[in-house]
Amino acid sequence: MQDSDIRALADLAISAREKSYSPYSGFRVGAALLCRGGKIYTGANIENAAYTPTVCAERVAFFKAVNDGEREFIAVAVAGGAESGAPKDFFPPCGVCRQVMAEFCSEDFKIIMAAEGKTRVYTLGELLPANFGKEFMDGKNENV
Ligand code: THU
Repeated sequence: MQDSDIRALADLAISAREKSYSPYSGFRVGAALLCRGGKIYTGANIENAAYTPTVCAERVAFFKAVNDGEREFIAVAVAGGAESGAPKDFFPPCGVCRQVMAEFCSEDFKIIMAAEGKTRVYTLGELLPANFGKEFMDGKNENV
């Protein structure tokens, strides 16, 4: 991905925060997911009074895309913070979201942390090494 594509996805994640429903934490998260065909899905975190039904922004974006039939993904950008406008600092996607990414994405899938005027790019392989996948249920577990 070119720097300009990374910045554009980062800015979509930042504006996706406007849809956040986060009355309990006040931590407003947005995600923008780039599919292989070029389509982009956004998501925001949706909280719940019972707390545990809360869904993170990344999973909202992934499930929207998967429900639309998308199965191949290039990158996701994430942005979060209590402030309105662009967050000043990065945050890393939670472990549950990383595991959802691992279901559909290869090790080189890009995870872009987005903040005001800056981005940091990781791969899924860096952030979730030795992840559990269907190969272990198929008995092909030579990677561990
Ligand atoms: N959250 C996300 O949306 N993504 C993450 O990867 C980490 C956490 C949300 C969940 C909750 O609504 C709020 O941030 C505080 O945990």
